[in-house]
Amino acid sequence: MSNKKHKKVVLAILSNAGGSGKTTLATHLAYELARCKVGHHPCSVGLLDLDPQGSLSLFCGLEKPSTAEKSISSVLSDDFSGDWPLVPCWTEFGLKVEVGQSLQQPLLKTADDLVNHPRGPYLLADNLQDYPLTHDVIIIDCPATLGRLNLAALAASTHILIPIQLEPKSASGAAELLQFYFIECRRLRLEPYPQIMGIVPNQYRSDQAIHNEILEQLPTIIRQLQLPDAYCYPTIRFSYEFSNASGAGLPLHLYRKKHPACKDFAKLASDLTALVGAK
Ligand SMILES: Nc1ncnc2c1ncn2[C@@H]1O[C@H](COP(=O)(O)OP(=O)(O)OP(=O)(O)O)[C@@H](O)[C@H]1O
Ligand SMILES: [Mg+2]
Repeated sequence: MSNKKHKKVVLAILSNAGGSGKTTLATHLAYELARCKVGHHPCSVGLLDLDPQGSLSLFCGLEKPSTAEKSISSVLSDDFSGDWPLVPCWTEFGLKVEVGQSLQQPLLKTADDLVNHPRGPYLLADNLQDYPLTHDVIIIDCPATLGRLNLAALAASTHILIPIQLEPKSASGAAELLQFYFIECRRLRLEPYPQIMGIVPNQYRSDQAIHNEILEQLPTIIRQLQLPDAYCYPTIRFSYEFSNASGAGLPLHLYRKKHPACKDFAKLASDLTALVGAK
């Protein structure tokens, strides 16, 4: 049985579609939060990479960790004693963002080991409770497969955001994801269930008829998915500059300060900062 006592916002970016924008959202929201203040202090953000692909390191401009001990898989082991393997990023901009990086092979092995571990799905939640991070908010970048690592993310999170691409398969993909969410939250006896903050349509091109069509259908789809609390966020437009920015290890805001797509995160950022108590 899980007993999540920590009240800190732990936001999991979850989607069963590869390339939908999970890592992009994780890094950009980390930036949006880190530039705010909690009381008189800069908001500090912990970014955890639960995806064996480890693209969060690239998006944050970090080298991959040199050993498994320095990667997030160490947190999901029985030997973990509270020494979180976190590396700061974007320090030259005065931001307090720390990253728990993933290394492919150790994290894949960890995911396998979770299957036979009696607390498998709860290990991350347990360690966040037993060895609390000091950050004001934690963001978890999740893999696109709905497996053990995502169960760990689900059990550890207080909130969930779902990025989607505006493609015909997105509705069925979101339905599968929601099925996973409801079944697993119930099986894991999560109390309360992490709150689904909403769906974020990403890579929107206004000149694509199909994008506009699906966008129009989204409120109906969300209702059909029986998501009373879910909210469809404003679209994040398509721009090649997102790839360029992530290649440079930066959020778009630090790469092209005046790029119009920076404003696309405004509503998400304001909801999140309110949640975290940041200004
Ligand atoms: N709004 C956007 N416009 C254009 N390109 C984007 C946008 N958002 C993300 N991308 C690019 O699309 C690719 C996939 O994005 P991202 O890595 O964030 O998705 P993901 O869901 O984390 O993928 P994966 O499932 O592989 O982890 C990246 O190259 C990223 O730079
Ligand atoms: Mg990713």
